[in-house]
Amino acid sequence: MHTSIDVFAKVRDHDRSAVLAAAREADVLPYFHVLTSPAMPVVEMEGAERIMLGSNNYLGLTGDERVMKGAEDALHRYGTGLTGSRLLNGTIPLHLELEREIAEWMDTEDALVFSTGHQANLGVLGTLLGPADTVIVDSGDHASILDGCLLSRAKLRPFRHNRLDKLEKMLQRAQSDGGGVLVVVDGVFSMEGDIAPLREICGCCERYGARLMVDEAHGAGVLGARGAGTAELLGVADRVDLRVGTFSKSLASCGGFVAGSHEVIDYLRISSRAFLFTASAVPAAVGAALSALRVLRSEDGPPLLARVLENAERLRNGLHERGFAVVAPQWLGDSAEVQSAAPGLRSDAAGRTSIITPIVPVLVGDDWKAALLWRALYDAGVFVNTALHPAVPPGGAMLRTSVMATHDAATLERALEVFAQVKSSFEAEHGPLPGPEPS
Ligand SMILES: Cc1ncc(COP(=O)(O)O)c(C=O)c1O
Repeated sequence: MHTSIDVFAKVRDHDRSAVLAAAREADVLPYFHVLTSPAMPVVEMEGAERIMLGSNNYLGLTGDERVMKGAEDALHRYGTGLTGSRLLNGTIPLHLELEREIAEWMDTEDALVFSTGHQANLGVLGTLLGPADTVIVDSGDHASILDGCLLSRAKLRPFRHNRLDKLEKMLQRAQSDGGGVLVVVDGVFSMEGDIAPLREICGCCERYGARLMVDEAHGAGVLGARGAGTAELLGVADRVDLRVGTFSKSLASCGGFVAGSHEVIDYLRISSRAFLFTASAVPAAVGAALSALRVLRSEDGPPLLARVLENAERLRNGLHERGFAVVAPQWLGDSAEVQSAAPGLRSDAAGRTSIITPIVPVLVGDDWKAALLWRALYDAGVFVNTALHPAVPPGGAMLRTSVMATHDAATLERALEVFAQVKSSFEAEHGPLPGPEPS
């Protein structure tokens, strides 16, 4: 006897097939466009120059001579690939140097390097959690965190994005689940660019005896005086048990890491399947990440950290002035003890402190309108990312713009002019876009 259900049936008739076909037909699909130049502030895509406002290259180090030389030296010394896992034949001295320097940077006892950030999340969560445990996650956490939780088969308790009251409720419920409890949040949320209130989250975890892991993919290399991330900025690095990060954003390469106590990291080193059963990253990727980290930790790092956030502020203010609904800066409740002079914080005349990240989301609302606006900007020479449902709630479509430290003022000004021109022709044809909230 054989089943009559074809497992491939879903590829023909899934819930997004109609909208995907319509977007292709109208030529407004914002995905898989081809880059034909290095990842820089201005790129070549599909035969034209576009200002790149849709990358995670926050420090602009992908084109840095020192980082390219790090990749080149590693390539020449160790070849194109390692063809095996870190456990067997895939560890080179660069991995060990990188792990040591990440631990110094994060100020932890130890660190472990994975081939991607996604695997770091899978490899940590899938190993440390088991079916008897509970994992509490913010609903805005990155997909790789959810994948790690699902892999672990721990009891999953999500809470509404950045709602401390809901987190506390989940911690209360987890008390009777009977296993260990881990809370996992993004430091900087990748789509909205807001941060997790880590001081309060640390307090909650400590009250309930839960462990805390923070994904610093968009915080490391951006926030804090040393660029070590959200936990550094908010002065709680020593209260966070594990910090995960990636080399695919500020560190201008590809790969991931976890930093924490020697005991936990060493356990992961011998038991994490996403670490053990995959090939080591290619030497050039490891060499580039190590060189980028060294640039960040040198005297050249702080000016880059300051510049990316100045650029974010310039873009945010410029879009706001031109009538776009830019997501407002996030106010920090209890800022008394945070690093007040650190990149990422701004104080206003009333003494309130707001947080800046390189991610500047523009609210559009309707998915279709967002795709049309994306296309109009693309045709006019600006590339941005789109966040459509299900990446955001229904009716919450956004253009996700982001800056690099290496965008100069003239390029950002040009991008803002494009936004202004596109807005007026777009609204004449398709009706009004959401406007800024009164400040
Ligand atoms: C918050 C977050 N965590 C993890 C990852 C995965 O990192 P990687 O691209 O290195 O796999 C990403 C990247 O998309 C991310 O945004």
